[in-house]
Amino acid sequence: MENKHIPVMIEEVKSYLPIDKELNIIDATFGGGGYSKTFLENFKIGKLIAIDRDPLSNFFAKKLSEKYNNFKLINGCFSEIDNLIEKENIDNKTQFDLIVF
Ligand SMILES: C[S@@+](CC[C@H](N)C(=O)[O-])C[C@H]1O[C@@H](n2cnc3c(N)ncnc32)[C@H](O)[C@@H]1O
Repeated sequence: MENKHIPVMIEEVKSYLPIDKELNIIDATFGGGGYSKTFLENFKIGKLIAIDRDPLSNFFAKKLSEKYNNFKLINGCFSEIDNLIEKENIDNKTQFDLIVF
């Protein structure tokens, strides 16, 4: 299955991000992964945590997980974002630079 969704406003979001700084990002509505893929391919990513409540998103995340060990999709609702991120046991010095919804 191919993701035919065109990410909305990705160029605008990209234009706000530095290309020379390592970024930690949460993609809170992963969907078909258009945003996550763009971040991983175009920026220096420390951690990219993706969230989506739809189990179908796992299908699209698989390829990215295989290619990037700094990427992880969590299935859940973004209203639970604090709990979902806390469960990941991320080093408490880690700060997120961007959360996209
Ligand atoms: C338009 S798609 C996102 C597309 C994605 N940005 C891309 O580039 O492929 C919206 C996604 O948000 C997810 N979503 C909607 N409400 C959500 C919620 N409360 N928590 C987590 N995911 C949610 C849906 O399951 C859907 O996959």
